[in-house]
Amino acid sequence: MDVFETEIGTQVSEAALWLMQQQLVAIPTETVYGLAGNALSPEAVLRIFEAKMRPRFNPLIMHLPDRAALNQYVTELPNTARRLMDAFCPGPLTFLLPKSGLVPDLVTSGSPKVAVRFPAHPLTRALLRQVPFPLAAPSANLFGYVSPVTAQHVYEGLKGRIPYILDGGPCSIGVESTIVDFEGAEVIIRRHGGVSVEAIEAVLGQPVQVRTHATDHPVAPGQLKSHYATHTPLYLGAIQDLPLPYQQQKIALLEFGKPWQTAFQVYARFNLSPAGNLHEAARNLFASMRAADHCGADVILAHPLPAQGLGLAINDRLRRAAYRE
Ligand code: TXA
Ligand code: MG
Repeated sequence: MDVFETEIGTQVSEAALWLMQQQLVAIPTETVYGLAGNALSPEAVLRIFEAKMRPRFNPLIMHLPDRAALNQYVTELPNTARRLMDAFCPGPLTFLLPKSGLVPDLVTSGSPKVAVRFPAHPLTRALLRQVPFPLAAPSANLFGYVSPVTAQHVYEGLKGRIPYILDGGPCSIGVESTIVDFEGAEVIIRRHGGVSVEAIEAVLGQPVQVRTHATDHPVAPGQLKSHYATHTPLYLGAIQDLPLPYQQQKIALLEFGKPWQTAFQVYARFNLSPAGNLHEAARNLFASMRAADHCGADVILAHPLPAQGLGLAINDRLRRAAYRE
């Protein structure tokens, strides 16, 4: 693998130059930072898997500048997908659609469907207009670790492995895009994310299926269980849910709403949203997980959030981060 002096900057044209040479650039999106390469170049796509040490059976989302670009890469657009695009794009929604022959099998890990999305961040939209190809981009973290929501987070994980990080400030949504799939007349949520199930159902005027469970052969392998993991073990629940030795050690709390009243000693507290706002909690989630991971605590304890709106995406990330033997 090449070694780079990783630069952080705001120059779209510099990012474009690297991408044209089939090199990788970290890009800001409204959800999380992406690790982008030319989606039509197997050489660039291979570099993505290599740079983040990601298994090749885990397919990548293709990022497009606008709807006009879609026709080349997908062969069918169900009416439900079209309505969701009208309502939420550009924005944090990813569509699984039958792929055209232009999309390399490496991008979809051999699946006949490609994941496409139209990110909303202005710098990345400008970049997508400057390069003559779509960008394949997973989250810009080393495989398995917490997703990055600032340029600095990307730098911490990928410094030396990529030449350029396009700095667009902190991500405004803070959790990854919602992934929707289409089977016949059915609309299926494959990953909870920045667009809530309620918002999708309101637009469609019909209930949707939610199938986000981890399996050995995941349809969306982002659903692998050891994703988003902190190095410090993280547990979901009450103090009694911690293995005994941890109950006496340095405990960091991930809180939401009113501070947690505890009968035990707390080493550090990170409140996702003192006001109890789920959007704010999503925006703070990954930065708080990283801060808790690096604060010197022996263990992180989090409560699940209300299971509605963005709470579903947040709980999903916490559950996947939760420590397992
Ligand atoms: O918000 C986001 O979606 C961010 C930003 C950078 O766009 N990207 C992101 O990528 O979260 P990644 O690779 O960390 O997660 C993408 C998920 C993975 O779970 C992957 O398995 C699934 O999308 N996926 C991608 N292509 C797929 C396909 N063809 N079929 C099924 N699942 C797919
Ligand atoms: Mg990811």
